[in-house]
Amino acid sequence: MQRRDFLKMSAAGVTLAGGGSALWAAGADPVVQHLKVQPAQYGLMPGKVTQGMVSLAADAPPPVLRMKQGQAFVANVENGMEDYTAMHWHGLRIPNAMDGVPYLTQFPIAPKEIFQYTFTPPDAGTYWYHPHCMTMTQMALGLTGVLVVEEADDVGFDSEEVLNLRDFRLNGEGQFIDLYTGRGAARGGTHGTVMAVNWQDVQRSDHAAGSLVRMRVAATDTTRIYKLYFVGTDGEIIAWDGHPVDYAVPFPVSGDDPLILSPGQRMDVALRMPSTEGETVKLMARVPGGVRELAVLTSVGQDAGRVLSELKPLPRNPLSEPDLTNPRVEEFVFGWSPEGDLPNNGFCGTLGYTFWSINRKPWAGDASEGTAALARLNLGETVVLRLRNESPNLHPIHLHGLAFRPIRSNKRDVLPNMTDTALLLKDEVLEVALVADNPGKWAFHCHVIEHQKTGLAGYIEVV
Ligand code: C2O
Ligand code: CU
Ligand code: CU
Repeated sequence: MQRRDFLKMSAAGVTLAGGGSALWAAGADPVVQHLKVQPAQYGLMPGKVTQGMVSLAADAPPPVLRMKQGQAFVANVENGMEDYTAMHWHGLRIPNAMDGVPYLTQFPIAPKEIFQYTFTPPDAGTYWYHPHCMTMTQMALGLTGVLVVEEADDVGFDSEEVLNLRDFRLNGEGQFIDLYTGRGAARGGTHGTVMAVNWQDVQRSDHAAGSLVRMRVAATDTTRIYKLYFVGTDGEIIAWDGHPVDYAVPFPVSGDDPLILSPGQRMDVALRMPSTEGETVKLMARVPGGVRELAVLTSVGQDAGRVLSELKPLPRNPLSEPDLTNPRVEEFVFGWSPEGDLPNNGFCGTLGYTFWSINRKPWAGDASEGTAALARLNLGETVVLRLRNESPNLHPIHLHGLAFRPIRSNKRDVLPNMTDTALLLKDEVLEVALVADNPGKWAFHCHVIEHQKTGLAGYIEVV
């Protein structure tokens, strides 16, 4: 079906497209949300209102979306913009048709249209959402939000702190400057000028003294690789990219040895608040030339007297374990694009140039029409993806719809925790293993969005 045929099918005005089938079990009411992608303005800098933002509300950041593991969720995503859009649920292993990738899994959502996404999240954990059409522009202007899938049963924390880490490219008046640059797109990406947490300078909040806090941190920036550490308490990294950790991730307590969270990645942290009222726990970031506070949690009231050892391990998600006895290997080379490839100026926007490729094939912007799969995997088989970085730049490589374990690198020891996004270092060859247990065409790309949009993208098909 071509886009124009699709348009013929829609009545004038608001159109309901997409899923719609009843995916939920009889008896359990699905959570239904109406999410309108729309222009917004907000005070990102003190005393200044930033114009031309994109959010799900006219004057607020994209909300934390909450759903429950195993419970149906329905999102009616309305396009209130003048450009096309499509919504992607990063890290959720859901049916391909609900994945939100234009031309690969659905048509872009036209202005005034509604696309109904219906799915049941199989895994608990911290995920996020962002557009996959006009990706560079709409993400840079604000449309990145955290998605929490709660465990079916309570896991014993007293409170929660959700942090959406991202930057904005603003001038001194708090207004947007160019969202991307040719220089940045061809190198490490263009960084924001203003760092933010939940669209503020620093997240400040109070928690009961001596209580246990679950902190969920999502790196939703288009470019920045965060170097994070904690000051003021002991804690534990309990989940990584959504899934409970199988291999301990060291709890970072120093800017000299920070934890790296690259674009698209998340971590869940168990923290114990100090016993004494007024004492603080801080999440810090190392930044060029120094360090910076991102979140300050202050203890209030009487000591609740809780200890981290009271927490039971998080329940495991229903993931298939790769069988490494004799896996098939698929090779991927991430590098420059061959000369002469022109970007495709489709409905979903182009930056106007092509710099990057996977296996020498650049992907044309967000629009994939006419591009073949980079690899075809058989449903249920274990495959090792050998990811080779031919460039001096870092690439957080993300695969939709499936979870994988990093198993080997020529540069370092890797922690084989289940993930959907792995940072590929300069000249690194990283092997990751997965079970191809979810059929469909799964986007596979760098999460530095300027790289994604200038060629470093493609898809893997599971049949
Ligand atoms: Cu955050 Cu294609 O994904
Ligand atoms: Cu994704
Ligand atoms: Cu990249």
